[in-house]
Amino acid sequence: MKFNGFAYINTIGCQMNVYDSEKLLGILNSYGFESTNDLEKADIVVCNTCSIRHKAEEKAFSFLGRFAKIKKQKPHLITVMAGCVAQQEGKKAFERVPHLDIVLGTRAFARFGQHLEALKAGKRQIVDIEDSSMIYESEPDTSCFDETQVSRFVTIMQGCENFCTYCVVPYVRGAERSRSSEKIVEEITLLAKAGIKEITLLGQNVNSYGKKEGEISFPKLLEKINAIEGLKRIRFATSHPKDLSIDLIYAIKELVKVCNHLHLPVQSGSNTILKKMNRGYTRKIYKEKIALLKKECPQIALSTDIIVGFPSETRQDYEDTKSLLQDIEFDSIFAFAYSDRSSAPAAKFGDQIAEKEKKVRLNDLLGMQDLVTQKKNREQIGKIIDVLVEGKSLKKRDGFELSGKNMEQMMGRTESNKIVHFPSEHVRIGDIVSVKIENAYPHSLWGHPMERDTSGVR
Ligand code: 5AD
Ligand code: SF4
Repeated sequence: MKFNGFAYINTIGCQMNVYDSEKLLGILNSYGFESTNDLEKADIVVCNTCSIRHKAEEKAFSFLGRFAKIKKQKPHLITVMAGCVAQQEGKKAFERVPHLDIVLGTRAFARFGQHLEALKAGKRQIVDIEDSSMIYESEPDTSCFDETQVSRFVTIMQGCENFCTYCVVPYVRGAERSRSSEKIVEEITLLAKAGIKEITLLGQNVNSYGKKEGEISFPKLLEKINAIEGLKRIRFATSHPKDLSIDLIYAIKELVKVCNHLHLPVQSGSNTILKKMNRGYTRKIYKEKIALLKKECPQIALSTDIIVGFPSETRQDYEDTKSLLQDIEFDSIFAFAYSDRSSAPAAKFGDQIAEKEKKVRLNDLLGMQDLVTQKKNREQIGKIIDVLVEGKSLKKRDGFELSGKNMEQMMGRTESNKIVHFPSEHVRIGDIVSVKIENAYPHSLWGHPMERDTSGVR
């Protein structure tokens, strides 16, 4: 059954949701919908939702809520809630958004098409939050790629069984399951052939990749992807500190395309809080892993996630987090105020921290990290660093004026994921260029290229 019209997707949340939205769009395309960025033109609106924190969930409800009025003027408009909030709420979603047509859970994508058909046949308020042991598989649609497409996400595994006490992921994404290594390599080969230079492998805990299925290990998977022709860079997220293996450290060290960067969420620097979070490591163990990483890969860039204001977090616990950040000196951090999630165990813990105090701690922590990030950025001055060119930049800085007629301000990223701006006449998007860093700011580095296009040679 074919549809006619335009599809608009609003993606909230993490990188995995971005990947999932591409898959949803692929399904919509195969049913005759064309993609649009113009909400007014849309005949179907999908909100791919996130429930990791209260704010993201509210964003989804408020976006979808707007369509009550619009549907009165445009009754044929189809509205879909997909992803984590859909999985969490199920049919309860209709209590807040009665005009919703489809509630599509995180593991129901394979049945999206059949629900669209059922809707066309007259069915109303369709809910599908059934489990599925498989991750939805489809070939990437590379037909829409142009020379501006440099980087893509590829999900390699989904779900989590770590049950950190603050986290909804094990409940909304379900048990861990991995895609076959053949399928992953096939997909990335297709992407590389279509001109993609960098891929980020996604999973809630990539170190558990393939364990249940008896697949090759994650470091072995990296080895296979490293051999894909045309691909220049491999990133991955997220790694759980308790599962960080020596084999992975060696893979980062030895595989030339694997970026010298690791995102390793620590969440807290206090042993008491780490235990209450059920993280499975202590501050000492985490620091030992970082020391080993730094020994094997001295140039490694590190980033982390932090939660402040977890139930019962004392001022001293918070100070322990701060001192850990000062000791390790991460290149960047993502910090969040603890958000109570009713399906996660910590919601039932006593001693909730006042919102105001969480904000004070969050701002204080971010202020301290800004200084560390600036220091790390300044350490890059004078170095010659490989930059994967992502596009033109509009930023201007004194001392970096564009002189020649064809000179343009370009931007790209280092392996460590730092943004670099530089003027150039001849680099193209997707090239890797060596840039001499001359200036550093809190969020970017500035420099001049050393030579003409190196055509991706690292
Ligand atoms: N409140 C605040 N932050 C959270 N995260 C996960 N759950 C919560 C929560 N309930 C953060 C963690 C995780 C990141 C993706 O989101 O730091 O690593
Ligand atoms: Fe959530 Fe913990 Fe799993 Fe990460 S490891 S997804 S924080 S339960």
